[in-house]
Amino acid sequence: MSQLGGQSPAADEITRLRELIDYHNYRYYVLDDPEISDAEFDQKMRRLQALEQQQPHLVTPGSPTQRVGGAVAEGFASVEHSPPMLSLQAVYGESEVRRFDERCRSILGASQVEYTAEPKYDGLAVALIYDDRVLVRAATRGDGYVGEDVTSNVRTIRSVPLKLPEGAPDRLVVRGEVYMLREDFRRLNEMRQNREEPPFANPRNAAAGSLRQLEPRVTAERPLRVVIYQVAEASGVSIESQWQVLSDLLPAWQMRSPNEAVRFCSSVEEALDYHREWLDGREESPYEIDGVVIKVNSMEQQRQLGFRTRDPRWAVAFKFPARGAITRIQDIMVQVGRTGKLTPVAILEPVQIGGATVRRASLHNQSEIDRKDIRVGDKVLVERAGDVIPYVARSLSDERTGEERIFRIPDACPVCESPVVRSDDEKSVLCVNLSCEAQLRERIKHFVSRRGMDIEGVGERTAAQLVDLGLVEDLADLYALDESDWVRLDKIAEKSAQNLVSAIQSSKVAPLSRFLFALGIPLVGEHLAELVSRHFPSVQQLVEADEEDLLAVDGVGPEGARSVVTFFRDDNNRRVVRELLEAGICLQSPEPQEKARDFEGLNFVMTGTLTRWTRNEARQLVEDRGGRVTSSVSRNTDYVVAGPGAGSKLARAEELDVAVLDEDAFAEMLRG
Ligand code: IVH
Repeated sequence: MSQLGGQSPAADEITRLRELIDYHNYRYYVLDDPEISDAEFDQKMRRLQALEQQQPHLVTPGSPTQRVGGAVAEGFASVEHSPPMLSLQAVYGESEVRRFDERCRSILGASQVEYTAEPKYDGLAVALIYDDRVLVRAATRGDGYVGEDVTSNVRTIRSVPLKLPEGAPDRLVVRGEVYMLREDFRRLNEMRQNREEPPFANPRNAAAGSLRQLEPRVTAERPLRVVIYQVAEASGVSIESQWQVLSDLLPAWQMRSPNEAVRFCSSVEEALDYHREWLDGREESPYEIDGVVIKVNSMEQQRQLGFRTRDPRWAVAFKFPARGAITRIQDIMVQVGRTGKLTPVAILEPVQIGGATVRRASLHNQSEIDRKDIRVGDKVLVERAGDVIPYVARSLSDERTGEERIFRIPDACPVCESPVVRSDDEKSVLCVNLSCEAQLRERIKHFVSRRGMDIEGVGERTAAQLVDLGLVEDLADLYALDESDWVRLDKIAEKSAQNLVSAIQSSKVAPLSRFLFALGIPLVGEHLAELVSRHFPSVQQLVEADEEDLLAVDGVGPEGARSVVTFFRDDNNRRVVRELLEAGICLQSPEPQEKARDFEGLNFVMTGTLTRWTRNEARQLVEDRGGRVTSSVSRNTDYVVAGPGAGSKLARAEELDVAVLDEDAFAEMLRG
C-alpha cells in the first residue's frame, strides 16, 4: 500500500498522479513508446505541481516534480564506491580477445565459456543508489574508489527512475553510463554557437560537462541519457548471469538497459562477430561507442575468475581503432572570424578519415599549439569525432627532421594589418578593426541579420559581392547604396534593388540594443547589449565610457567591460559608428521601466554569495518594489534568495518550508 493512501483526497490524488507520471515517463524515456501526448503529460505534471504547492509537507524526494533541483551545489561532495568502480582491460585485436577467452577457459577448466557482448558507450560512468526504492544518491566514477556526488544533476535525467516499481529490491546499487545522442549533441552545439558559447568537442565531453554542472538547472536543459549495464548490489535478489541482468532484471525495475543492443554469445567467436558488425555500422549508430564490452555471462564464473588490481578478469573492452590518421602539416594559416578572432588552421597533406577527405584541421589557439608543441612540417595525428571539425591531436615529434618551424600567430591581422589584441592566456587573439576586410563580409552578414538591424535580402553571396566589388568598405557604406549600385550585383534586378534600398531605409529606426549587438563587439551578445543599452541613453555616452562605468551595469563583468572599451577606443571603429549615425540611423533607448510595487508585503532574506548583484543592490531592487529585506529566516519570510555557499539560512528555510529562489529565479521574478 502506498504511504499516503487513505489520508486525504488530495494526498490520494497526489499518489495516483505520481504513479501515472512515473509510468508515462517510463514509457517515454525508457521504452521510447509513449502512450499519451506531451500535452496530456504536461497537464498531469502541472496538476501534481499545483497540489504539492498547496500541500508542501507531502513533497517527497521520489516525486516526479523533484527532478529539477533549484539549489546550487557548492562544489561536489565525495561519495565512496563500494565495491569500487573498476575499469576494463582494453584490447585492440581479435587475437587478444581469443587469448582472453583461452585464459578464462583455462582458469575455469571449461571447454567453452558463454559471454554477453555489449556496446561500450562513450560517455561518463555513474553509480545510482536506491534505498527503499527511492533514488538517494548518484555519483560519478571519479578515481573508481571515490567519486563526486551528482545526485541533483542525475535527477534531471528523464531515463533515470526516481522511484522504482514495486517488487524492485529495497536496496539497489547499479552502474551505467550517461551519454548524449549524436543528434542531440549536434543541436546543442548549434545552439551554443548561436549564443557564441564555445562548442563541445564531442558528445562525451558534452555529457561530462553537462553532468558536472554546479547548477542542476543547466543540466536539466541538456539532452542527457542513461543506460545501465551493471548491478553492484541488489538486496534479496540472487543473480545468476549478466544476461539475466540485462534482459530481465533491469527492464523489470524500469531501468534503461542496453537490451536491444546486446547479444548473448555461446562462444567467443559470436562476440567477435558482434564486434565486426558494430565496426561496420558504427557511423550509423545514433550514439557514439568506442568499442564493445565482452563479459563472462555466468556470475558464478565471474566470481571464480575474480579481479586483478584495477580490472576484472572476466571482461575486456574490445576497442575500435581511433578515427584518426597520420599526415603532415604543410602550413599553418590564420583565419579571421566575424568578431575578429584569429584562429590558426593547419593545412594538411590530404588524408582519409572515416570516409571523408580531410585537408584542414583546427589548431584552436596559440596556447594549444604551444602546449602540444605543434610545428609547421610536423607529422601529426589528426582525429575526427562525430560531426566535429577535425583537429590535430598531437605531433609525432620523434619523426622531426629539423626542418620544422615553430609557429606564432602574428602581431598584425593577416588581412587588414591592424595590430591584434592578445588575451593574457594566449587563448584569444582578436582583430577589432570594424573595417577589416576579412571580417567585413561576416560583419555585414551579422549586421543585417534578423537579430541585428534586420535588413532582409542580404545573404552570404550578396555580402561577399558588396565587398568584392568595392561597394562596401565600411558598414556605413550600406546606407549610401542606391539602386544603381545594387543592380551591379549578380541576380539583382531592378525590383529587388528597390526592395533592398527600402529595407535598408526602414532599418534605420532601431532599438539601441539591437544596434550594439549588430556591431559584433566581442562578448556582446543580445543579452549584454540589452543590459548596456538600459544604462547608457546614447551611443555617444557609451563610446566615451571607461571600464568602471561599464562595470557599474548589472550583469556586465570585467571581460565584457574591457571588450566594449577596447572596441570603442579604436579610432577607425569610432569613425564607422559616427558615420552610421550620420547616415541617419536613429536609435531608440529603451523606455525607462516603470517600477511596479509588486513586492508589497513580501519579506525576503538574502544568503550565500550573490554573483549578479551586491547584497545592497539586491536589497535596493526589493525595496524599490515595495518589499522588505530582513536578515534572519522566520515563519514570516516569504522568499529566501540563495546564492552559492548558502548555509544555515538555507537549511532553516527548508525546515520552515519557505520558498527558496536561486539567482535565476530571483532575476525572473524581478522581470515580472
Ligand atoms: S562494465 C568492472 N559495461 O567503460 C566492469 N562498462 O573502461 C565495469 N563502459 O568505466 C564496467 N559501456 O564507463 C561496462 N557496457 C558497458 C560499458 C562500460 C561503457 C565504460 C564505463 C567504465 C569503462 C571501463
